[in-house]
Formats: sequence, C-alpha cells, structure tokens
Amino acid sequence: MAKVLIIGAGGVGQVVTHKCAQNPDVFTEIVLASRTEDKCRRIAAQIDRPIKTAQIDAANVPKLAALIEHEKPQLVINVALPYQDLTIMDACLETGVDYLDTANYEPPEHATFSYSWQWEYQDRFRERGLMALLGSGFDPGVTNVFTAYARRHHFDTIEELDIIDCNAGDHGKPFATNFNPEINIREVTQKGRYYDSGQWVETGPLEVSKDFDFPGGIGPRKIYLMYHEELESLVKHMPEICRARFWMTFSDNYLKHLEVLQNVGMTRIDPIDYHGVKIVPLQFLQAVLPDPASLGPHTKGKTCIGCVLQGTRDGRHRKYYVYNICDHQQAYQEVKSQAVSYTTGVPAMVGAMMMLTGTWRGEGVFNMEQLDPDPFMEALNKHGLPWHETFL
Ligand SMILES: NC(=O)c1ccc[n+]([C@@H]2O[C@H](COP(=O)([O-])OP(=O)(O)OC[C@H]3O[C@@H](n4cnc5c(N)ncnc54)[C@H](OP(=O)(O)O)[C@@H]3O)[C@@H](O)[C@H]2O)c1
Repeated sequence: MAKVLIIGAGGVGQVVTHKCAQNPDVFTEIVLASRTEDKCRRIAAQIDRPIKTAQIDAANVPKLAALIEHEKPQLVINVALPYQDLTIMDACLETGVDYLDTANYEPPEHATFSYSWQWEYQDRFRERGLMALLGSGFDPGVTNVFTAYARRHHFDTIEELDIIDCNAGDHGKPFATNFNPEINIREVTQKGRYYDSGQWVETGPLEVSKDFDFPGGIGPRKIYLMYHEELESLVKHMPEICRARFWMTFSDNYLKHLEVLQNVGMTRIDPIDYHGVKIVPLQFLQAVLPDPASLGPHTKGKTCIGCVLQGTRDGRHRKYYVYNICDHQQAYQEVKSQAVSYTTGVPAMVGAMMMLTGTWRGEGVFNMEQLDPDPFMEALNKHGLPWHETFL
C-alpha cells in the first residue's frame, strides 16, 4: 500500500522498523535512514524482510529533501531527536510528503520544549494539502488518545487529568536512561509545571511527589510531578479541563546519581572549553552512559503508563483510570528492545498506519487528541499495547 521513510536508528527507530515490517499490507516498502548508517544496517539485519538503509543528516534540509525525492515515500516517520523536527518538517513541505513524530521541537541551546514552533507550520501544511501528526509515541501520544477516548465514552465533561508514567523495570546498571540520555536529562531537570484553572503553576524540579498504587503487580511507588508536552496540547484542545498534571516514577538510585551529576556540572548544556575544544558537558555525559538501545537484554520488569480522569457523567462525579502495562522482556523477545522504546515505537507505527490507510486524514498540523480515538485504541490492542480501564 505505501512506502515509508523512517529517520533515526536508535532505540525507538528499531521498534518502529520492526513493527512496520510486521505489517506488510500497509507498509509495503521501508527505508530506514539515520546519521550513522551502520546502525540502520544492524536493525535491517534483524528483520527478514528487505529494509533499505541510507545515511542522512536530518538537520540538512537540501540533503534530506533530495533523499525524500529519491525514495518517494508517502510518509516520513521522524524518530531522530526533537532538534530535527523543524528541518524534517521543512523537507516534507518541500517535497510534498506527510510527516509524523513522537516528541515536540526543542532548540538545542535551551532546555525547553513547546508545540509553538510546530503549530506555526499549520498554514503551510494546510496550503500544501499535507498532514503532520505530532507526538505519536506513548506520552505524548497514547496518553492524548486515552484522554480523547475517555472524553467520548465515559464523561460529559473532564475536570481533572493526571497522566502517570511508571517504569518499574530494572536494567541492572548503576545509572542509565531508557531513551536518549541528553533529551531525558534535559526533561527531568526542568522545573515542574502543571495547569490549574486557566494558569500554569511552576514548582521546583521533582519537588512535588506522592504515592500511587500501580496495577499489574507493580504496587505502590512514589510519583513525581513534572512538566510534559502533552499537557500543552490537551488543555488547548480540551479547554474544559481545569487541572492537568503529569507524574513519573524514578528509582532512588536514579535520583541519587542525577543529583550528583547536576551538582558537579555534568548536566550543563552550555559549551565549556576543554583543552581548547568546546564541549557540552551533557553531551559528553551521554557519550559515557549506556546506549538505551543496549539495555534490552538486561531490563526486567514492567512499565505502566496511563491517565486518571475525573469529571462528570449525567450529573454525577466519576473517576476513571485507563492504562497499559508492558513487560520489558516480552518486548525484547519480540523486537530486541526494552519496553520504553517499545511503548514509543508501537504508537508511532499505529499513527503511521492510521494516516496511510486514510483512517486519520486531515490537512495541517494535528495533535493526537484531535483525531478519532476509537480506531487507534482498537489498533493498540492488536499491535502489542493492550489497555485496561477501571472506575476508581
Ligand atoms: N512520545 C514518547 O512516548 C517518547 C518516549 C521516548 C522517546 N521519545 C522520542 O523518540 C525519539 C528517539 O528516541 P531514542 O531513545 O530512540 O533516541 P536514540 O536512541 O538516541 O536515537 C536517536 C537516533 O537519531 C539519530 N540522529 C540524531 N541526530 C540525527 C540527525 N541530525 N540526522 C539523522 N539522524 C540523527 C541518532 O543517530 P546516531 O546513532 O548517529 O547518534 C540515533 O540513531 C526522541 O525524539 C525521543 O524524545 C518519545
């Protein structure tokens, strides 16, 4: 049916390539391109379908446009880094191809992320008759779809939204991140922020915490309030929401190492002079930390990501929880990746499938909650991320 160009051969890119390859009716041809072509070849060798590979610097619009012109895909799936979102969108506009990503743009020089830069592409995508789907991972992504699904089927109005992300897995390393270390540490060390009655309220980084009892045998864990990008789009598209917060679990070990790394300046993102060479401490730290893609064989345990929603239905108060549980070892057995890459890569494939089959179609730039949640929810059950719902 369609040819896709996947950009980025990291942990998430590996899962997306496997999952697209598992669905040959939709993804008839797959090209995987990244900065280091060797990584693309390594992924292609795991799959018993032909996967074409290419070397590309996705920050270089003319070169990327030339690759797209040459390959002529119907869709570009961006699972490189958030720094490349705008250049990949530019190349898609230039070549007339649809676009999908899993994380919103952030400028390398500031640890801040926002949809504002990509929402500015609205008119250009609309005028070109193209679709850009933003944030088709798990969070953002599935959490937006969970919210839209709950709104449609279980609430007349949503008042409170709590998105809760738990990784109860253990990779056995003293310190490692489950996705790109630079992006992960920039996100976690930011100030917390949540939405309350029309305003954004700031907190210190990981200053607010509470206990939450997770299902699936995980049990009680401490969850920490953070800012996360789907809050921005959800309160824009569902203005009825009074309070929206995002929470994540961290092991004591992770927090202990992070505190030391921050205290000694290793998480700084401004370039410093080292023997006449400019280096960014956080980028140097990434070079010595374990590659998230290498954690798959060692990571045991589960992730549990979901949304707790409160609001009313037929005039009565309701509290509802919708979540997915994913097992690190099962993910590894299927696609040779741990569950954090898996829970991001599957929704990227499902979002691509929605677009390529015409199930989700529109002209312009879209966040996930703006589209019909039902077919996406059905596809999650079918493609490896079954979800559960309960009233609390
Ligand atoms: N929504 C969600 O739930 C969610 C969850 C986790 C992650 N994410 C997002 O998923 C994306 C991928 O994460 P990951 O863990 O797979 O990261 P990763 O393992 O670091 O992989 C990133 C890949 O992008 C490639 N790359 C970097 N700069 C490039 C450039 N200029 N041109 C071409 N390729 C380039 C890297 O190439 P090299 O191999 O040469 O370094 C690497 O292969 C990130 O944007 C992350 O924020 C989303």
